[in-house]
Amino acid sequence: MKNCLVELHDVSIYQNKNLILESIDLEIFEGEFVFLIGKTGSGKSSLLKTLYADVPLTAGKGTVCSHDLKSTNLKKTAMLRRKLGIVFQNFELLIDRSVKDNLEFVLRATGWNNKSAIKSRIEDVLEVVGLAHKIDKLPFELSGGEQQRVAIARALLNSPHLIIADEPTGNLDPSTANEILVLLQTISQGGTTILMASHDYEAMKKYSTRILLCQNKKLIEAPNTADILNVIQQN
Ligand SMILES: Nc1ncnc2c1ncn2[C@@H]1O[C@H](COP(=O)(O)OP(=O)(O)OP(=O)(O)O)[C@@H](O)[C@H]1O
Ligand SMILES: [Mg+2]
Repeated sequence: MKNCLVELHDVSIYQNKNLILESIDLEIFEGEFVFLIGKTGSGKSSLLKTLYADVPLTAGKGTVCSHDLKSTNLKKTAMLRRKLGIVFQNFELLIDRSVKDNLEFVLRATGWNNKSAIKSRIEDVLEVVGLAHKIDKLPFELSGGEQQRVAIARALLNSPHLIIADEPTGNLDPSTANEILVLLQTISQGGTTILMASHDYEAMKKYSTRILLCQNKKLIEAPNTADILNVIQQN
């Protein structure tokens, strides 16, 4: 039986006391590649933030990578974040540090202190994203697609079980966006589970995976990718 990485039962999500999503039941299993879609403001980011404990869980029950989302213990929350890779639309790299220093910063913040282990981990993740040759560059010296690759490398540092990506291709041109998707697909084939908010319907058709839709305050499972055109039209 595959490991269940995300398990929500009767979860309702609020922002500023406003109900955003109600009565969510959700299970995501190891190895799945899941798209999360829905109109702007429908609650995709709110759901993802709940999963990485940035929005507190106040109604219902939930676990992510065995972490109880009801827990407010800071140490436990830090442990959860270490098990996750989080990727944002706007990359969120430290602009005054090189690629290497961006990655080293995260490793040191998560308890790595052996110099040669740090060096070799940084080289490994940059190899995965095809940017070993940019190790000494500053973010502004990289293209948007390259910056997102660095952000993905950063997400991979602690070998996460689950990558949560919030519109990771939203700021990229279509061909660069496709390269990032191919990279995420490759990472997923290596066994990492991926949950990704996206507006890229072409990619969903192409990668033919599981799709979740935020609509009318509900989280709905799109029946299959063949129905994606219907989903888009209603959406
Ligand atoms: N920090 C916040 N405080 C109050 N309300 C918020 C906050 N963040 C989001 N909201 C509200 O919650 C609702 C859902 O927003 P959310 O960002 O989750 O949508 P989304 O589906 O990610 O949209 P988009 O596609 O534009 O990223 C919106 O009505 C938004 O205004
Ligand atoms: Mg959003």
